[in-house]
Amino acid sequence: MNTVRCDETPAWVALQAHFDAGARHFDLRRAFAQDAARFDAFSQQAPEVFADLSKNLIDARAQALLLELAEQCGVFALREAMFAGEPINTTEGRAVLHTALRAPRGAAPFGDEVHGVLDAMLAFAETVRARAAQGELRDVVNLGIGGSDLGPAMVVPALDACAQRGLRLHFVSNVDAHAIDALLRELDPRRTLVIVASKTFTTQETMANAELARAWFTAQGGELAQHFVAATSNVRAAAAFGITTTFGFWDWVGGRYSLWSAIGLPIAIAIGATNFRALLAGAHAMDEHFRGAPPEVNLPLRLGLLDVWYRNFHGFSSRCIAPYHQGLARLPAYLQQLEMESNGKRVDREGRPLAVATSPVLWGEPGSNGQHAFFQMLHQGSEVVPVEFILVRRPAHAHADSHAKLLANALAQSQALMLGKSAEAAAGEAAPSASPRLDAAVLASHRSFPGNRPSTTLLLDELSPRALGALLALHEHRVFTSGAVWGLDSFDQWGVELGKALCSELLPRLVRGDVAGLDGSTAGLLQRLRPDSN
Ligand code: F6P
Repeated sequence: MNTVRCDETPAWVALQAHFDAGARHFDLRRAFAQDAARFDAFSQQAPEVFADLSKNLIDARAQALLLELAEQCGVFALREAMFAGEPINTTEGRAVLHTALRAPRGAAPFGDEVHGVLDAMLAFAETVRARAAQGELRDVVNLGIGGSDLGPAMVVPALDACAQRGLRLHFVSNVDAHAIDALLRELDPRRTLVIVASKTFTTQETMANAELARAWFTAQGGELAQHFVAATSNVRAAAAFGITTTFGFWDWVGGRYSLWSAIGLPIAIAIGATNFRALLAGAHAMDEHFRGAPPEVNLPLRLGLLDVWYRNFHGFSSRCIAPYHQGLARLPAYLQQLEMESNGKRVDREGRPLAVATSPVLWGEPGSNGQHAFFQMLHQGSEVVPVEFILVRRPAHAHADSHAKLLANALAQSQALMLGKSAEAAAGEAAPSASPRLDAAVLASHRSFPGNRPSTTLLLDELSPRALGALLALHEHRVFTSGAVWGLDSFDQWGVELGKALCSELLPRLVRGDVAGLDGSTAGLLQRLRPDSN
């Protein structure tokens, strides 16, 4: 496995020289004025996704050097190792084969196992849909957290247009019992199916919620085995819990890459087998693109390299995700786990401290809501935040006027971020709501926009299962690319362990009120949190 340090490659040195020589002052407005073909040169079609990269602070030289960087950092070799099932998750000694979950039988490792579970899961999903159609079932509750929640919780509303009516999907992740309490009191246990989704079947939050749901269910005397199923790689623990219907998966499926596996059961129930297969097919098409398209038109590669350019050369520390589709409301949260749990690391695969910054902070909200919340900061704040707009050409509803407004808003935001507005232009405009006592020059500086703020626009024809599958796989491979350049292990998550261990230690202390040996702050807070504290 390649152990080269990205910041010691010739391409990195050349990129730094290019940046210092003027690329740091790259101006989008000038670039478009000088190059009528810029849109064509910096946009491309990939499977199901058209991408406009032209409003980014990048020129042909930077792009060419970034592609050289990928080569010199061993990104292509690592990509092949991933698809071949080599244990590229080195700290856990595991293969990384979520791509095998969406490959046709025979086209990737573990085809028999993958398709065996997939067929069984989809057949089960169809029986659930049939029972719902007959009125036997009405609600499906997914209990899971992190990767066992975020993928399905994001995809189910996104694909609502294909969902079976009369069947309601619910997702409970938080150990805060307000969430499960509020849900269960609305449900009829006789018409509810509970999915316990946990790769390990040991995660504290999920097991606490599963126990509450089991107690709620058994209190009315029904047959647990008919109403509880599990998606897990720990079949034995599920059986010990009392669950006899289990859909398994494997240690080579990372939690945040697992919606394509049995963890996708709520999706399959919501949209049916044919649509679930289309979701997988879209992801597979993007896998093929990532594996086979030439580097200069390889979209996940280009986006991952752009992320490196922004993080390490421009020093941008966050990226805003702005999906202009209400169905994608949970996409920012999903992408947060995907990118920040994968690439939020500070040492390389060899355990050496990294000399460069890694994962940016991802955040966002659907448009146009975000425009009335945080876009102020994106336009006029002191930090530059690249924005990723996700647009869908054809809506699933019939309200063409509303959709045109939505799309026009998205276009206007990316245009405004780029174009900005000079103080002179602002001074020439009427501002009826401004204070009449304010000096004109002062007002103009408040009303001017620096512009030159970068954005990418990803465009889908429609939010179909196939297109969504491709969009999500695009992000997986983009995260792979930046992680590979940085030389870190994108597939472990040791950073969540310390908090878990300390929680296990604090829980009995909280119950007993035992603060012996704790630091002053934790001891003080623990005492105040005791139920009998006054
Ligand atoms: O938060 C850490 C983590 O391990 C995630 O990577 C994972 O998606 C989540 O917990 C849930 O784990 P499990 O599916 O084992 O319950």
